[in-house]
Amino acid sequence: MITDTTSLKLEKENPDAEDFLPLLGTDYVEFYVGNAKQAAHYYKTAFGFQSFAYAGLETGMKDRSSYVITQDKIKIVLTSPLNAESPINDHLAKHGDGVKVVALWVDDATKSWEETTKRGAKSYMEPTKEEDQHGYVVRSGIHTYGDTVHIFVERSNYNGVFLPNYRKWESHYNPAPVGLKYVDHMVGNVGWGEMNKWVEFYAKVMGFAQLISFDDKDISTDYTALMSKVMSNGNGRIKFPINEPAEGKKKSQIEEYIDFYNGAGVQHIAVATDNIIHTVSEMKNRGVEFLYVPSNYYDDLLDRVGEIDEDIEPLKERGILVDRDDEGYLLQLFTKPQMDRPTLFFEIIQRKGAKSFGKGNFKALFEAIEREQEVRGTL
Ligand code: FE2
Repeated sequence: MITDTTSLKLEKENPDAEDFLPLLGTDYVEFYVGNAKQAAHYYKTAFGFQSFAYAGLETGMKDRSSYVITQDKIKIVLTSPLNAESPINDHLAKHGDGVKVVALWVDDATKSWEETTKRGAKSYMEPTKEEDQHGYVVRSGIHTYGDTVHIFVERSNYNGVFLPNYRKWESHYNPAPVGLKYVDHMVGNVGWGEMNKWVEFYAKVMGFAQLISFDDKDISTDYTALMSKVMSNGNGRIKFPINEPAEGKKKSQIEEYIDFYNGAGVQHIAVATDNIIHTVSEMKNRGVEFLYVPSNYYDDLLDRVGEIDEDIEPLKERGILVDRDDEGYLLQLFTKPQMDRPTLFFEIIQRKGAKSFGKGNFKALFEAIEREQEVRGTL
């Protein structure tokens, strides 16, 4: 059901979803980290993010500092507490560095809060108007799995750099971008038996519909297993796969995450590129570590995925994975966890028609993760 004129303009990618909010895209992703200044330096250097905005003592923010970094459509906010009283400390002690906020861009943050809380979401932030000389922004928020929250951002009446209380962050250190373009999907890990609860949450509260599901027959190795369902909004711009651990011979990678994160949270952020060979080469040169896939993965690659535009050799050199679905193919590669705890990692993905998530690579990928788990002694 289309409920307002904005959604009429949006393409319908997932016909089962009901776009009553509607969500226009990912606005920003906010991490709570121990040292935002140093984290920003890392993501600029290693991932090619650009300095964008800053908030802290100098801008009137008393309890925290936040560095906003950007690359094409992606905005990441890195936030650290400035005193012992800040509740951000509790989040850090419990989870380590991790994603706190998945912010969603909407036309009307008040309506988004009313619609979602009416449908059962727990409020995190009532609609709040923040303003400065550049106009105003309205934000509101709801809780999702674990301590993670969604914030709805209405910014049509604002032309400042990011949000009120932020100033432009100018730096003399500006490493070149690596070609990351937008957030393709963000995956949540939830506890045993909780996947369907959160699938229903996204369906009921946000109007999402399920795109695909995988069970432990699709995603299992000798040791580990998981189940996954992909939830998406109507225009397809927001895709949230939800994973839960499944029983295997040894500890599932999802369970390892839940143990170290102390509960449910964002497992990986998939970012899109138009040239994965270039992007991955740059990131490797800058020190990002990726999961290693044995070279025999490539022996029968073309038998599995058919003709592709790329030569095999550069893919093999970089360990880039390929998978095909009915609509095309995709290339993907996963970083190792980017935190000291084996929790959040990134996926680099290039879509060539495929709209799926690389099911054909799950086995090779999970075996690679298990080799890492074995070294950590957590398998
Ligand atoms: Fe993914």
